[in-house]
Amino acid sequence: MMTIETYLAKNKEEIEKSLFDYLQDESIPSRLKEAMEYSLKAGGKRIRPILVIAGAEAVGGTAQEVMHIACALEMIHTFSLIHDDLPAMDNDDLRRGKPTNHKVFGEAAAILAGDALLAEAFYILSKPPFDCNLKQMLKIISDIAYATGARGMTGGQQIDMASTGKRLSEGELKHLHNLKTGRLITVSVTSGAKYCGASREKIEALEKYGKLIGLAFQIADDILDIEGSEEEMGKDLKSDLKKGKATFPSIVGLIRSKMMEKSLIEDAINVLSDFGKSADPLRGIARYVIERKN
Ligand code: IPE
Ligand code: IPE
Ligand code: MG
Ligand code: MG
Ligand code: MG
Repeated sequence: MMTIETYLAKNKEEIEKSLFDYLQDESIPSRLKEAMEYSLKAGGKRIRPILVIAGAEAVGGTAQEVMHIACALEMIHTFSLIHDDLPAMDNDDLRRGKPTNHKVFGEAAAILAGDALLAEAFYILSKPPFDCNLKQMLKIISDIAYATGARGMTGGQQIDMASTGKRLSEGELKHLHNLKTGRLITVSVTSGAKYCGASREKIEALEKYGKLIGLAFQIADDILDIEGSEEEMGKDLKSDLKKGKATFPSIVGLIRSKMMEKSLIEDAINVLSDFGKSADPLRGIARYVIERKN
């Protein structure tokens, strides 16, 4: 069995090979294409597409089968980052180790690059490359739209903006984090598995796992904003503090935040008890979510 580091690196490489191919289309205006590629190629951990693959593999599927879903989720995530960094939102200058999209291309191009990546994702999803169960594919598209839009990430971002400078209860903060980050992570885990025909019981377990690691992922992000190294993170740190963002450390303190993320990850691994060795990557990713340095 390969280490989780090797698993992540190998899949990141495979994902990037496919991801960059989608934009090789002469009909995309060159400035827009440049802005889209700038953020897509800047790097990133590719954790959502890796989760699509690990979810598929946990139920006997393969990376190749779900690569289009993996790439679509990374495009949606990259769109969310470009817009999250805009002056009207978090107003950050550094992302994935490089100046943010709007710093390089200007606000208009950054907004449009985000819009185009979001639409591109659904364009890819609606043209699955293999013979597939269309009813199932439609359900996956609807799950991903739900997790991305008003009831998911976008809704969470709205609550995030409205909560800046306010003191939320722990429950309100959990809700915010579940929406802005948890929903997209959860749907990454379930959509690959659904595409590979997983049973209802398996999907339910994977959904629980996704929700647990999704919340832990955003708690870890909040902690890294305080304790991480800017060099390793590749984005502006102490940014939440400066803006008075509602974060786990600001509401429950650093020590309790660390206890909570640990306990979420233990629960996530326990949820996978009925899965065999094929779920080892998911177990490794769960640990990685809170042990990561970037
Ligand atoms: C950052 O996501 C935004 C959050 C939801 C916390 P990632 O930490 O996955 O960022 P990249 O993709 O690796 O750059
Ligand atoms: C962003 O949360 C979540 C998104 C949906 C993009 P943050 O604002 O904390 O993400 P970073 O720290 O800028 O990556
Ligand atoms: Mg934000
Ligand atoms: Mg931000
Ligand atoms: Mg953050």
